[in-house]
Amino acid sequence: MIRLGVNIDHIATIRNARNEAFPSVVEAGLTAETYGADLITVHLREDRRHIKDDDVFLLRQTLKTQLNLEMAATQEMLDIALDVRPDFVCLVPEKRQELTTEGGLDVIKNFDYISNIIKTLHENKIWVSIFIDPNSEQITAARDANAYAIEIHTGKYAEAKTNYNSTEEFYKIKDMAEFADSLELVVNAGHGLNYHNVKPIAQLPQMHELNIGFAIIAQSVFEGLPNAVSKMKRLMIDERT
Ligand code: PXP
Repeated sequence: MIRLGVNIDHIATIRNARNEAFPSVVEAGLTAETYGADLITVHLREDRRHIKDDDVFLLRQTLKTQLNLEMAATQEMLDIALDVRPDFVCLVPEKRQELTTEGGLDVIKNFDYISNIIKTLHENKIWVSIFIDPNSEQITAARDANAYAIEIHTGKYAEAKTNYNSTEEFYKIKDMAEFADSLELVVNAGHGLNYHNVKPIAQLPQMHELNIGFAIIAQSVFEGLPNAVSKMKRLMIDERT
């Protein structure tokens, strides 16, 4: 069954806005798990703008499902990952000024460096996915670098302003999900997915997991995190049956 990774970064955004200890990231993670999350995803950014180091360690100790740590491919983050020991690491590109992750990682350009990070993490039984644009050369490079999974960047699909563009972006994702599956990569996807656009992506038979953050946390303002999570999970699963 397709898995839902709930990204709880923006619980920390709210907390940090007032320098308070609440809302609690740990409580959010545990609540999301109770209501349908199969794993919890957090992005520890270089500038620590939302999730902080302590959050990651506390989540590791308290979560009952699995922890997916999104991080830049840097020595600092590698050291933290080896300390925290999340179940998964998702390697993402990071730019200081961006509002959110803007594009996939360029595996081809940084091949040796990324391969070495993957090797170290895999030796420590932390399975690595690479956040990647729906592009066959990049996906082939991810396989050659020995990634366990790819997470297809769905941002362009989610942001498409016309039906034509959205369909075009959807077919790129569909084709690349099939291609990655043929290379025996586990296929995940995420970014910009919401209650309106998730169904076609969840329906792709190769899709193993979707990581969704902003839409769920935003919806929780109106109907609470339990409903926001379970509603997303239902939409994803209903499409499969
Ligand atoms: N997957 C990755 C790799 C991301 O960087 C993000 C954003 O942090 C997400 C998924 C979740 O994106 P969104 O918050 O738009 O659902």
